[in-house]
Amino acid sequence: MQFSLAALALFVASAMSQAINISSPPSGQTVLAGEKLNVEVTRQNSLSPSEEVAIVIGVSSCTDENSCPSPSQVIQHVLYNGPYAAPHQNITVTLPSSLNGGHAVLSVTHFSLVGVSCVPSAGRRHLLISYD
Ligand SMILES: *[C@@H]1O[C@H](CO)[C@@H](O)[C@H](O)[C@H]1NC(C)=O
Ligand SMILES: *[C@@H]1O[C@H](CO)[C@@H](O)[C@H](O)[C@H]1NC(C)=O
Repeated sequence: MQFSLAALALFVASAMSQAINISSPPSGQTVLAGEKLNVEVTRQNSLSPSEEVAIVIGVSSCTDENSCPSPSQVIQHVLYNGPYAAPHQNITVTLPSSLNGGHAVLSVTHFSLVGVSCVPSAGRRHLLISYD
C-alpha cells in the first residue's frame, strides 16, 4: 500500500479537500454480483487551484445497512485505483462476483493537491447499494 504512509497526512488536510460527489449510481441501487457498474464522479467547482492525483473506488459488504464497515477504515474490494479526469468522469467498474450479505457500501476516495502550496488532500463519498 503505497498510500498508507501518506494517509495520515492526507486526513489532516482533508478539511481543505475538494469535494466530490457520486452522481451515479443513486443511493440504494440494487446491483447484481459480477455486473459492470457505471460510477459517475463529479468534482465541485472551487476557487482554489488543485491538481488531481487519483481516485479509489471500492466496495465492502455487510449483512445489513447498519453494519457496513466505514470506508475510511477498510475497503474490502478495490475496484478502481487510477487517474481522475476532473471535473466529471464516468468510470466503469466490475462488481465482485460474490459478496457476503445483501448490502454493500460503495465508496469513492479522491486524492488531490490543493492550492498554490499543493496541500495533499483526501476527500470521500460513499453510499449504500443492495445485492440481488
Ligand atoms: C454535490 O452534492 C451536494 C449535496 O447533495 C450538492 O449540494 C452539490 O450541488 C453537488 N455538487 C455537484 C457538483 O454535483
Ligand atoms: C456519464 O454518463 C452519463 C449517463 O450515462 C452521461 O449523461 C454523461 O454525459 C457522461 N459523462 C461523461 C463525461 O462521459
